[in-house]
This record gives sequence, C-alpha cells and structure tokens, in this order.
Amino acid sequence: MQRDVDRILIDRDRISRRVEQLGAQIAQDILEDLERHGHLDPSGDAADRVVIIPILTGSIVFVADLIRHMPLRMSIEVVAVSSYPGRSMESKGVSLRGEIPSTLAGKHVLVIDDILDSGQTLLTVKRLVQEQGPASCRLCALLEKTGKKRADVAADYVGFEIPDEFVVGYGLDYDGYYRNLPEIGVLRPEAV
Ligand code: IMP
Ligand code: MG
Repeated sequence: MQRDVDRILIDRDRISRRVEQLGAQIAQDILEDLERHGHLDPSGDAADRVVIIPILTGSIVFVADLIRHMPLRMSIEVVAVSSYPGRSMESKGVSLRGEIPSTLAGKHVLVIDDILDSGQTLLTVKRLVQEQGPASCRLCALLEKTGKKRADVAADYVGFEIPDEFVVGYGLDYDGYYRNLPEIGVLRPEAV
C-alpha cells in the first residue's frame, strides 16, 4: 500500500497538530454561539444543541480525531454521499444515500467532509440542513483544493489548502482503498 504513494503531501505530525488546533477553535466558536443564543445549560455545557454531521466515508478518520479535541456535549449523525463512484477521479454529481437527520431545527450543526473539491457535496448537504431551520450551520473540510471552479459554497473551517491533485490517505480513498494511510499523499501514476 505505502509503495503506491508517490509523495507525501502532509505528514502525520502536521495533520495531528492542525486537527488539534481546528477542534479547539471550532469548539470555542460553537460555545460562543451557544452563549449568544442563550443555549447553554446551567452548567455551561451545550445541552442537546450540538449535532456533528460527518459525511461518509471520507471524513471518518478526520472526524474521529477532531471530535476528541472538542470538549462539548454533542451528538453525531452521519450522512452518506457519493460523488466519485469506483475508480473515478472526477466528481460525477452528488447522490445522497439514505436519509439526512430530520431533527436539526434549532440545533447548532457542524457538517464535516474530507475535502472541498467542486463543492457539490457540501453544498448539497448544507441545503438539506438549512431547510430544517438550524440555529447555526458550519461547514468544515480537512482539505481544500485551491484554484478550483467551485459551486457556491465556502467552508468555515479548512485544515489545509492543497494543489489540485488527487490525494489519498487519512480517510481519503481511491476506488475505496488507501483510507487507512496515516499521511496524505499522491499516488504513483502506475497505481491508478
Ligand atoms: P466535491 O463534491 O467535488 O467537493 O467533492 C467532494 C468529495 O469528492 C469528497 O467527499 C471526496 O470524497 C471526493 N474527493 C474529491 N477530491 C478527492 C481527492 O483528491 N481524493 C479523494 N477523494 C476526493
Ligand atoms: Mg467522499
């Protein structure tokens, strides 16, 4: 598996430092939001207001690390979206597989994806969340490809900006594989 990687773009240490920072920053922003809305419970915690929505499957590794840097009471409701079926390296349009949680009215929602590329995935999920009238809706992507033509959507939080190359590892796949690589890297041309 490691042999198929041509070059590492972001190593484990950089990922882990950035994820820790991001988690702390997001948690602080959500807490400030809860306070502004009068949504904190008497002990200063988030009551039942915070819902994290990881987009499957690419965000699983990132989310697992990120939420452990967010000391808040939260629930997690996954959504499954597919945009790169099989061996494809270009978005084929977005399809939602299964349901989006339907109980988001009045909640502070954080949608998390692995990468912001064409923007179709986050835009689709954001619209479905917003239709329900959440108290707030934030978007977070571990990676964002710079210089791409993008749907009308911006992430509130981005871990790293990367060049427009197809990357794998730390949750990101090619044809379903390489998600368990601890680094983020670019595949050898022979491996695709
Ligand atoms: P978007 O809808 O085009 O923004 O694409 C987002 C989805 O495409 C992400 O959830 C990823 O699963 C997938 N994706 C985009 N770029 C890459 C990449 O470089 N490597 C692996 N998956 C990618
Ligand atoms: Mg994906």
